[in-house]
Amino acid sequence: MKFPILTPQEAAEYFHDGDNVGFSGFTAPGSPKVVPGAIAEKAERLHAEGKPLKINIFSGASTSDRCDGVLARANAIGIRTPYQNLPDLRKRINAHDCHYFDLHLSELAQKFRYGFYGDLDVAIIEVSDIQDDGTVVVGLGVGNVPTYAQRAKKIILELNEKIHHKLYGLHDIYLPLDPPNRGEIPVFKPSDHIGTPTLKLDPEKIVGVVMSDSLDGVHAFTTPDDVTNHIGANVCHFLISEMKAGRIPSSFLPIQSGVGNVANAVLYGLADAKEIPDFEMYTEVIQDAVIDLMKRGRCKYGSTSSLTVSNEVEQDVIDNIDFFKQKVVIRPVEISNNPEVIRRLGIIAMNTALEADIFGNVNSTHVTGTKMMNGIGGSGDFARNAYISIFSCPSITKEGKISNIVPMVSHLDHSEHSVDILVTDQGIADLRGKDPIQRAHEIINNCAHPMYRPLLNEYLKLGGPQGGQTPHTLNASLAFHTAFLATGDMRNVTF
Ligand code: COA
Repeated sequence: MKFPILTPQEAAEYFHDGDNVGFSGFTAPGSPKVVPGAIAEKAERLHAEGKPLKINIFSGASTSDRCDGVLARANAIGIRTPYQNLPDLRKRINAHDCHYFDLHLSELAQKFRYGFYGDLDVAIIEVSDIQDDGTVVVGLGVGNVPTYAQRAKKIILELNEKIHHKLYGLHDIYLPLDPPNRGEIPVFKPSDHIGTPTLKLDPEKIVGVVMSDSLDGVHAFTTPDDVTNHIGANVCHFLISEMKAGRIPSSFLPIQSGVGNVANAVLYGLADAKEIPDFEMYTEVIQDAVIDLMKRGRCKYGSTSSLTVSNEVEQDVIDNIDFFKQKVVIRPVEISNNPEVIRRLGIIAMNTALEADIFGNVNSTHVTGTKMMNGIGGSGDFARNAYISIFSCPSITKEGKISNIVPMVSHLDHSEHSVDILVTDQGIADLRGKDPIQRAHEIINNCAHPMYRPLLNEYLKLGGPQGGQTPHTLNASLAFHTAFLATGDMRNVTF
């Protein structure tokens, strides 16, 4: 290999205070494994000397403790986008130590290319193979790596020997032209490949290669509980009845599912349902459950931006890579989450809410309206453009002290216009074709927990003294939240 080998510490010398840095990958897979830790050590050293070092991190989505975790603990992140999910970084964001802006995942690459966020000083890119002409095979998550590679002034590669050479053929790297020259994104079915299996880097930009040797370290999910199982069963019941009613074609439609136990419960429920044919996925992350369903033949194909699988399953994929190359394609997130493609393919989108209100608006990001949880992620890319947009959440949280169905959401991510179906452990609210008051009855009766239904009905009966189609009573609309903040329990609400 003609590129110099660097230690992580030598690579860290290329990073300076205020630099814009692009990270490869999407969730932990494909994210850098060793250089961020060395930047964090350098930052701690400089901070101890009273000197600044904070870098601005542009990624595909969340990363891992080896990126966001170490850098947040070192207080070495200036700006962060588009998504994160680690407690240490969340604390920095909510304490204003780090400027986080929350963005639809499909939008970051193009907005970077449009020049909205300045130049990219350095990109750190995990690869599984490098050629002397700068052609690389990337890791198990792609995210925004084609754009970061194109825009970066310097590139540092992390060559991960654990997955060396084996991934060729798993990726479809495609960079659309920007307006006014953009054409169609020619994906007409999830398995369509429209780009190349490798990424071509400018060899002049590659300043060195750092060796790494570890799997992605995704945690296996916890065992589903009764609540998630009920939500999963309700979603399955809904989808089967839609297919029987002819509103979903008998060949079924591609599925997008968020991360977590509800998604797993739904996928296993669909796989076990005899009425549902073998199905495809067009989604941003593929988890352990999907790999299992591929081996069982129930999931025919999956388009994704990442294989977000536990180490055990990751090893299984690498060991059986020829099988999985026929079943999976890993794409840049601006293609996996592309609104044009999502609308064209007719995706069934399943995403999670922190809370929903009685009129069908959804908060996915802010606890009690103020504290950032993770970010909107790809939920908006899919929900806004889906064939059917489903949101789910438990009916109650914290032993019932919180109702996840409230009079008015304390922060808005997905408006009533992007929510077709709301599902909780209690049941399904079908909001299609209903006006605000009809939606409120549907949600209170079918989705709210029985102990909160009288309180929600009491709010609705206040009737909106100002009049209007959506009968909010503005000085009472956040009373559930203020009761929780004042007493620790929404059941103490008074209007
Ligand atoms: N008010 C206050 N706290 C709430 C709450 C509410 N309405 N709802 C949930 N919480 C708390 C939970 O109690 C839990 O707290 P804990 O960590 O102290 O136990 C925490 O928030 C997470 O709740 P949980 O039910 O475990 O949520 P989750 O892991 O299913 O995640 C989202 C839910 C909304 C945070 C998550 O799905 C997300 O980040 N979504 C946006 C991104 C996205 O949808 N991407 C697209 C697909 S990958």
